[in-house]
Order: sequence, then structure tokens, then C-alpha cells
Amino acid sequence: MKFSNTLVYWQLQNNRELPWRKSKNPYFIWLSEIMLQQTRVAQGISYYLKFTASFPTVFDLAKADESTVLKMWQGLGYYSRARNLHFTAKQIANELNGQFPSTYKEIIKLKGIGDYTASAIASICFDEPTAVVDGNVYRVLSRYFGIKTAINSSAGIKEFKILAQTLLDESKPGTHNQALMDFGALHCKPQNPLCETCPFADSCVALEKKLTKELPVKDKKVKVRNRYFNFLVIKTDDNKTILSERKGKGIWQGLYQFPLIESEKNINKEEIISSEKFVSLFRNETTISLFNTKEIVHKLSHQHLYTQFWIVETVTSSKAKINWIDIKKYPVPVLIANFIEEFES
Ligand code: ADE
Repeated sequence: MKFSNTLVYWQLQNNRELPWRKSKNPYFIWLSEIMLQQTRVAQGISYYLKFTASFPTVFDLAKADESTVLKMWQGLGYYSRARNLHFTAKQIANELNGQFPSTYKEIIKLKGIGDYTASAIASICFDEPTAVVDGNVYRVLSRYFGIKTAINSSAGIKEFKILAQTLLDESKPGTHNQALMDFGALHCKPQNPLCETCPFADSCVALEKKLTKELPVKDKKVKVRNRYFNFLVIKTDDNKTILSERKGKGIWQGLYQFPLIESEKNINKEEIISSEKFVSLFRNETTISLFNTKEIVHKLSHQHLYTQFWIVETVTSSKAKINWIDIKKYPVPVLIANFIEEFES
């Protein structure tokens, strides 16, 4: 209990005014927790305010088109999270009468909700004593207790969850959990933690043994796959272009993109022009030029996308049905949104 008391006392002195903290409504807490898995609190606030203004209840989110939800998610990445959010909103609205389940056991059954989110919602909204373990919690506990087990190993995941659970103040689980996350985010930071003013300094193993920089330990990442993307940015004389929805599993499902030629390595103009895709798209004469002379490397967690945007001008094309001025209405990957911004400036 000593640990929790110190933590909650720290929290009292360092409380963050966050829009979702005004509420115990599980719909709002769920939205904020899913968003905060994608971004830092500072950026998450604007997404949260935008989402809750457009979809003030779970019924509003359930009623929305998927592409509207994805558009609003644009920039956060991991679009499967937004699709799961939408799926689960429909389930809650249509099958559960809008009632969010109220126990960890029931909450974790929902699509897109894992141990972290279920613990956060159950503790914050329903006072259930379930400990959250996010990146902040791993950092604080690994340092304070000097634990070297890799946080992304199954042994580590188990060990830290059990430890977090034993530290939890069961009389105020939501406050304790959020205080621990805040403490990790603001005080026991990844770089330059504020050890001189730390309320745990007299008993922190990492501080005593000078291990702060080494902890937490993470096993080496999985291998990164390199991919080579060539987007054909079509502009007809009447200002039309082609965008199509990415189908199937994999990155960017449900988002829109320009016609894509994926290759084994970077390819040149001649190779683009002679490709099957290019030949099938264009009957008329075209002018083609490379927009970014230096390839853009877009890094996802497991893939690096080496990208070239090819501007293809032609008089007309029966397949180009989208007016260029409408292009910003479509949900697109950030890589493409950035290109459009630059192209238009
Ligand atoms: N990071 C993600 N969720 C959080 C919360 N509820 N409080 C503090 N930091 C968080």
C-alpha cells in the first residue's frame, strides 16, 4: 500500500486536466483509451474532442459510415483499431441496447479490446480492481524493482501484470492506475527521468544501481519487411483522378489510394510505362514524371515503404471518376495525405 499512497500523493500534486477525466462514461473512456494507444496525450486530445463532438453517443458512432470514421481517425495509424471501434460500437448499440458491459470479463470479449483496455475501462468506470499495464507501467515497475525480464516476452507480460496487480490500491483502482500511467509519462520518462525530485528515489533499484537507462528491457524487434510502392497520381485535363479502396487484410484496409504498382525494388519510368497495370489503365497518350526525386521512406511497425509518386497526365480516362477537388473527402493513409498537401502547395 505504501507504493500506491506515494503514487496517489504525487498524482494529487501533478494532476492533468484531461477532457475524458471529467467522465466515468465507459463510451468516452473506451474512445480515449483506444486513441491513447496510438498517440501521446497532447495529440490525442484533439482527436478525442473531434470524435466526441461528431459522435456524442455510441449510437452516433454505430450509425456512421466506416469511411467517415476512418477519415476522422486519419493520422493516428493502425486503422484496424478504428474499424474495430466501429464494429464494437455497432454491437453495443444494436445487440446490447447501448449498454456498455460493466465487468473486465465481459469487456474483454469485445472486439478490439485487450487486457490493457479492459482493465482501464473496468477500473476507471466501474471501480473494478484490475491493474493496467501499458508502456508507462512497464517502465516505472521495471526501474523501481530493477526487473530485467523483457517486457515483450510472454514471461515478462505475466510477471508485470501480477506485480501491478499486487501494488494496486483496491479501494481506488481507477485513480491508482491513472496515477501510475501519468507518473510514467511525466516523471519516470523514457529519457531524462526526473530522479532528483522523485518521490520513490530512496527505494528505486534502477536509481541505486544506475540501471535507469537500461530498463525496461525489450527483446529485439521482429524483422522489418521492405516494400517498394509506386503510386500513379492521375490528372486528366478535366481534373479527374483515380482513387480506389484497399480491400482485403493487410495495411490500410478500407483506406483509399492512387493506383499502385508494387515492385521488388525501385523502378524507373520505362518500367512503369511497360507494366501491365499502366498499360491497362491508359489508352491515350500520357506524360509521366516523378514527383519526389528522392524516394520517401514511410516506416510502419513491421514494414518500410519505399515510395515514389508518379504524376501521370492525360487528356481523359474513363476510369478517372473522382474530381481532384473532392480528394480530401476520402480517408487516405498519412503517406498519401502528406503527398497531396505537398503536391497542392
Ligand atoms: N495513457 C493512456 N490512458 C491513460 C490514462 N487513462 N491516464 C493516463 N495516461 C494514459
